[in-house]
Amino acid sequence: MDQIRIRGGNVLEGVIPISGAKNAALPLMTASLLTSETLTLENVPQLSDIQSLANLLEQHGTQVNITEQKLGQTLKLTTPTITSTTAPYELVRKMRASILVLGPLLARAREAYVSLPGGCAIGTRPVDVHIKGLEAMGTKITLEEGYIHAEAKNGLKGADYLFPVVSVTGTETLLMAAALADGTTRLENAAREPEVSDLANCLNAMGAKISGIGTGTLIIEGVPALHGATHSVLPDRIETGTYAIAAVMTRGDILLQNTNIDLIPISSALLAQSGVQIHAEGENGIRVNAKGCIPQALDVKTEPFPGFATDLQAQWMALLSVSEGAAMVTETIFENRFMHVPELVRMGADITVNGSSAIIRGGQKLKGAPVMATDLRASVSLVLAGLVAEGETTISRVYHLDRGYERLEEKLNSCGADIERVT
Ligand code: EPZ
Repeated sequence: MDQIRIRGGNVLEGVIPISGAKNAALPLMTASLLTSETLTLENVPQLSDIQSLANLLEQHGTQVNITEQKLGQTLKLTTPTITSTTAPYELVRKMRASILVLGPLLARAREAYVSLPGGCAIGTRPVDVHIKGLEAMGTKITLEEGYIHAEAKNGLKGADYLFPVVSVTGTETLLMAAALADGTTRLENAAREPEVSDLANCLNAMGAKISGIGTGTLIIEGVPALHGATHSVLPDRIETGTYAIAAVMTRGDILLQNTNIDLIPISSALLAQSGVQIHAEGENGIRVNAKGCIPQALDVKTEPFPGFATDLQAQWMALLSVSEGAAMVTETIFENRFMHVPELVRMGADITVNGSSAIIRGGQKLKGAPVMATDLRASVSLVLAGLVAEGETTISRVYHLDRGYERLEEKLNSCGADIERVT
């Protein structure tokens, strides 16, 4: 079982190339089920979740051709026919995003038997919104033995659907289902995350007719078939925010490349407000200069995009631990997303949790310690704490990290961190 060992105290200076967004690449890969032609995806991150989904798609009949680059990879995905409409539990349980095959399988093959993904560390993660939306489009759905049995014998019909809660993958499921439905679909209270817009733009490149992209109201005019396309995955805004926070915590100066400051509107505004110099540089860079800066602690509340991203909440807590002053973090999206707290406290952070809020008192001197990763984003907050902690931090269960951060040690070492993977 791999571990990551970090010796803290180094100032980060240099350039970090940002990878393609995991949470865009995953739905984009499932869009390949919607056509018999080849969908080429560029700037796909090399992550274990991508491989898991490729394995799932292959058993649905997709041919996956991978060309790896030094950073990232290009996937060519071709599904001549759907050879199986079943997404088995043993594959789905490894990654919840597998639920994203449900919409495309129904749209292309008019039936799907997808294992319920089950919860994960951060919450129960229901999929009732996906199911209700598909039922509105004429799907007959029953839940049997832990599987979603979905059938649309006469094909999917366009429908109006108001999301009772903003759901990223729920919106993506209905976008893909509606693309091939008979008639027009109107989605209200849809998710506005950039990854949803990236999927919608790719679907339009494949011949779909989607309007309202980037807003909470998406209108999809169904078409009889989609064709192949080539699409470059948008930059990963969570990786962008994570390394921006690393620069600030170490009081360093980093140029984040191949990304866009508009992807982190709230985090960049808050970092600027706390005294950090952060601005767009060049046509696709963000400069984060925190030299000589003692960031002021600022409250955050997680919200759907363009609000503060829940996937940056753990990282923000690590930053608050070494900022000046005290601040409150409120998690409104998931019911159990404070698992990083006990580990940060063991490193000397001063954090008090009260329900879905936590108070973090800054100015602490963090000390290296052996800590345990629990979920993808919590584990990277421990890496951030280790970068500034006195002494050595060892993080176990780093497979959580490998799900969402491509070449993490390499990117940080190139800016002067002292971090290594030990097996
Ligand atoms: C996506 O998960 C992301 N995953 C998550 O990233 C991210 O944290 C989340 O959106 C919020 O931004 C992918 O895109 C693969 P939701 P998703 O449906 O779509 C409730 C990471 O670290 N809800 O937007 O599963 C749900 O319980 C991961 O990369 C229902 O009640 O999240 C939550 O409280 C973690 N019923 C809220 O909505 C449903 O049917 C938002 O969930 C669906 C969701």
